Amino acid sequence: MSTKKITVVGAGNVGATCAQRLAEKELAREIVLIDVVEGIPQGKGLDQWESAPVEGFDSRVIGCNDYDRAAGSDIFIVTAGIARKPGMSRDDLLKTNANIVKSVSQEIARVAPDSIVIVVSNPLDVMAYVALQETGFERERVIGMAGVLDTARFRSFIALELGLSVEDIQALVLGGHGDTMVPLVSYTTVSGIPLTQFIGPERIEALIERTRKGGAEIVGHLKTGSAYYAPSAAAVQMTESIVKDKRRILPCAAYLQGEFGYNGIFLGVPCVLGAKGLEGIIEVELTDVETKALMSSVDAVKDTMSNLKSIQ
Ligand code: LAC
Repeated sequence: MSTKKITVVGAGNVGATCAQRLAEKELAREIVLIDVVEGIPQGKGLDQWESAPVEGFDSRVIGCNDYDRAAGSDIFIVTAGIARKPGMSRDDLLKTNANIVKSVSQEIARVAPDSIVIVVSNPLDVMAYVALQETGFERERVIGMAGVLDTARFRSFIALELGLSVEDIQALVLGGHGDTMVPLVSYTTVSGIPLTQFIGPERIEALIERTRKGGAEIVGHLKTGSAYYAPSAAAVQMTESIVKDKRRILPCAAYLQGEFGYNGIFLGVPCVLGAKGLEGIIEVELTDVETKALMSSVDAVKDTMSNLKSIQ
């Protein structure tokens, strides 16, 4: 465990599940779980630590309300904020979560100015922007989690459809984390074989549609909140690539500076994640249809960005 400390902000379902997954994978010596609510992070953190003897991990999980306890953390996973209820879009969370992510980011910059921040709070692409602004960190150290989750959903639906292993399904979902996300069929393969050799365009379109609405499908079932098992798995996979300096290519929300022709917004793109955080963006070739779809996704993110500016 070369990484000393990872802090998860927000001890709700996503945050707490992240902490448990980080600990089970022993990704840091110490996992700090922070929340504003007194007692919840302490209780969940202690409960998780008490699972250590059974699960066999030595990552010490500690819950607290105080950012000083997170001082010197190598990585922060920011899950703080309210979650969607049925009928709400991710953008409905904008004002409340922008204020929360703003104050969390200021605390992060205060106690751990050299850390890397993975943003999970929604609306994702814009919350990542708030974190970038408020921490003042360079773009390599502020990355949003969305593409790994959206891609995982797409892969899981393809595996169900084909009756084949999820392990062999490779896919790439780009764009904003919203209904305009862009699953790239041209980069979707099953053990290297293009998906188009398995099923026709109507079935593929149905799987894309289910992926776009994947978050809402879970909200519809749960009614009291949104997904957390797959979102936490995605955030922890990004963390693992950074902690172990694996340099995996994972679709993440990155702050674009000219890549794909866009500037000044966070957007889901293929990223290389290593010890320094965002170590590269792969500008894959897109078909005309994909280019147009990405453009609509950019417009949706820009709309939310301008809503943010109007309430700031
Ligand atoms: C989802 C939420 C976490 O996609 O954005 O489930």
